[in-house]
Amino acid sequence: MPGTLQTWPPWLEFEEPTDYTPKDQDFDICKQAIIAEYGEEKLRQSWVQVCQDLELVTAEIAEKRSDIFPIFDCEAILKDGFSAEDQAAVKKYGCFIVRQTVSQDEARQAYEVLRQYRNDNQSEIQGWPAESPSMMMIYDSPTQIALRTHPNQLRLQRVLNQLWHDSSAETSPEPLLYSDGIRDRPPKQVFLGLGPHIDAGSLCRWADPTYRRAYEQIFAGNPRAHDAYNLAARKNANQTLFPGRAHSNVFRSFQGWTALTRAAASEGAIMLYPNVSTVIAYTLLRPFFRPPRDPKDVMDATKWEFDADGAWFPGTFKPDSQRLSRASHPHLRLEQCLTHIPDMRPGDTVWWHTDVCHAVDAVHNGRENASVAYIAACPKTESNIKYMKAQLQATREGRPPPDFAAGLILDERHFKGYRGHQGLSEAAKAALGYYL
Ligand SMILES: [Fe+2]
Repeated sequence: MPGTLQTWPPWLEFEEPTDYTPKDQDFDICKQAIIAEYGEEKLRQSWVQVCQDLELVTAEIAEKRSDIFPIFDCEAILKDGFSAEDQAAVKKYGCFIVRQTVSQDEARQAYEVLRQYRNDNQSEIQGWPAESPSMMMIYDSPTQIALRTHPNQLRLQRVLNQLWHDSSAETSPEPLLYSDGIRDRPPKQVFLGLGPHIDAGSLCRWADPTYRRAYEQIFAGNPRAHDAYNLAARKNANQTLFPGRAHSNVFRSFQGWTALTRAAASEGAIMLYPNVSTVIAYTLLRPFFRPPRDPKDVMDATKWEFDADGAWFPGTFKPDSQRLSRASHPHLRLEQCLTHIPDMRPGDTVWWHTDVCHAVDAVHNGRENASVAYIAACPKTESNIKYMKAQLQATREGRPPPDFAAGLILDERHFKGYRGHQGLSEAAKAALGYYL
């Protein structure tokens, strides 16, 4: 059974520098605004509660390891949806596997098409990170378009979007297709770029008043009342208040990828922290507290001091995703809880809530390339519709999608093998924004 890491990779640790003086007032401003609104007592009440809840959360994960991830068969989900019990597990853990969202044969064939497309257009394809490129900065290869628009993908994404609710009825679970990159990672390639992190912004979660409101129960002393699936609260949150290449302009109900090859623990797959609400609550409360001086007391939340004046937000850097580390976020017990997903076959998909902590396998000790297409679930919200219109226009005009355009010169229309949106179904075109 795969589980947690035996050797922790040299991912960054975020410890407060002893001579820290904030140069950027934005951290202090949002911290003071939250203290003024909710007060020390409520913040402390939440902090102690969340750290206490983490004892149970982390004990369960450490015990079950990779067996904790709910696994579903795509056909069954599309036919019957989630049972009440499954839905409760999915919502609690915030991540799950869907087997054979596309068939193994289709996925293998799609991978062959990708390899051909890359070989034919090698000189014009950029990779990331530069020192060990595994992420291909292409967005409209026939492989990506076929996988994104696969009827099962569209139907499944609709089901996933429905796990969220919006009392305003201003949104719809009808899927929109976000164009993202594709990874093809050769064996032995080390990758340290994506240690434990949470996407959808970093400081903006505290600084944008709308985003902050989505977490108000956490700041107000009632962390257990936080509803991580309230789209009404989340739909207008500004994930790009502070611009950065790591930030997506699109709200993804679930991030996800589709395996094109086998993927397994320590073979270039992904590690997830199977919990939504308690981990994000801890992350949001952490900058308000300072660890006790005696390291022996670190796990005792009541010994942490309320930090009214400091402006140190561990792992929070404006242009980056929210980072987490063992030193800065000890109650998360990352070493025990950042967990390898089960082995994946070509065509299987993995999904994780937009607030779930994850990391890319630092090592790839397998024998074959590990290839995945990033395909998320995006509901129809006002800001997602706006983005999809811009994304479609970019595709038509031979530009990269807006989120990936900075500094990238890429016109796939002239690539050998490019097919664009030829022959797509009406449902696929709708999800690509044709009729918005
Ligand atoms: Fe990520």
